[in-house]
This record gives sequence, C-alpha cells and structure tokens, in this order.
Amino acid sequence: MNLIKTLEKIVYDYGHNFNFYDTDLAIKELGKQAPKGLFGRNMIDIGCGDGTNTKKIKEALKAKTIIGYEVSPTLAKTARDRGLEIVKMNPGDKISGEVGVLWGVVHHFDNPVEEMIGIINNFESFIIREPIDRWRVFEAGKRYSEAKMTKMVEKVVTKCGKKMTKVIIDKAKSVLYFIE
Ligand SMILES: C[S@@+](CC[C@H](N)C(=O)[O-])C[C@H]1O[C@@H](n2cnc3c(N)ncnc32)[C@H](O)[C@@H]1O
Repeated sequence: MNLIKTLEKIVYDYGHNFNFYDTDLAIKELGKQAPKGLFGRNMIDIGCGDGTNTKKIKEALKAKTIIGYEVSPTLAKTARDRGLEIVKMNPGDKISGEVGVLWGVVHHFDNPVEEMIGIINNFESFIIREPIDRWRVFEAGKRYSEAKMTKMVEKVVTKCGKKMTKVIIDKAKSVLYFIE
C-alpha cells in the first residue's frame, strides 16, 4: 500500500471523508444542469463515503430512492447513522441499477477506464463528478487534468455505446459528466 493510500485509510477509519471544494455549489449546478431524464429516478451512489453528499444529491435530483455503496466499513457506518441505506462493497463488485453516481471516486481507481466500463455498462444512466484542480494538495487519489479525465470518460462512453455531456464548474473545481 503506498503512502497516499495509507493516509487515506487512516482518515477514512475515523468515519469521515473531507471535501476540498465547494460541494454546495457543485450540487446546486448538478440540480440545474442535469438532463431531465436523471430526475426522480432510483439512484445508486458508488463510493458514497460518509453519506453527506449522497443526501444532497438525492435532494438535488429529487431521486425516488438512493442507495449508497461503500468500501470502507467506518464510512459505511457513518452514512448508515445518517439514515441512509448503505451496502458494504468491495472494488470490482457487480453493481447495477437505473442511475449510478461516482462522485469524486474515479481518481481513486487503480485502472479507471476498465473499472468505469465495468460499472457504467450495468446502468441506464450515469453521473460522474471529478476534481479539476491539478495542484490540490490535501485530496488523496490520482491527479488527472480535466483533459485527461475527459479522454478517459470518452473512451468509456464509446465502449459502452452511450452519449456524454460535460459541464465544467470552475468555481467548484469540478467537472460533471452526464452519461445516458
Ligand atoms: C473522496 S471520497 C468521496 C466520497 C463521497 N462520494 C463524497 O463525495 O463525499 C472517495 C470515496 O471512494 C471510495 N473508493 C475508493 N476506491 C474505490 C473503489 N475502487 N470502488 C468504490 N469506491 C471506492 C472511498 O472509500 C471513498 O468513500
């Protein structure tokens, strides 16, 4: 396990994950810019962390239901204590559903393209949020530029036979991909 992964585990073992961007702005833009077909659906938030953003995503998209999937048992417990339905998962598990979400998770994947294909193929629609400030100091995971991340998502979308729209939210240091 490398140093960043070790530090990440120590932080997650406290049962919380930190956000180093304006989450409220990113989620407000999600509610404004998401295609109509993504509202009022059954959602699955993969890598939901402590569930703070899962609840906000549910509200922004007026989701019928949202279930969080989480790798870390302590984060899963915190999310459950917040009243969310949470499934403990392992990387590579087969997960399927209507609308899937990877909110700040892809840069943690060991093989992002392959792992995204494995997940997105099993959903009708998908939402990805990724950080775009390359010089972020505190956030764990890999540091992809927006261009590199977009190239990877394009590859995935082509392979899955889907279409993608991209929204850059500079002030929230985020890029959103809507995949249908
Ligand atoms: C930066 S946190 C984001 C958490 C949450 N989505 C949020 O926005 O607050 C990254 C999350 O990805 C999860 N994660 C890391 N590797 C993963 C993998 N291979 N599959 C699924 N989740 C993973 C971590 O356990 C952690 O909850």
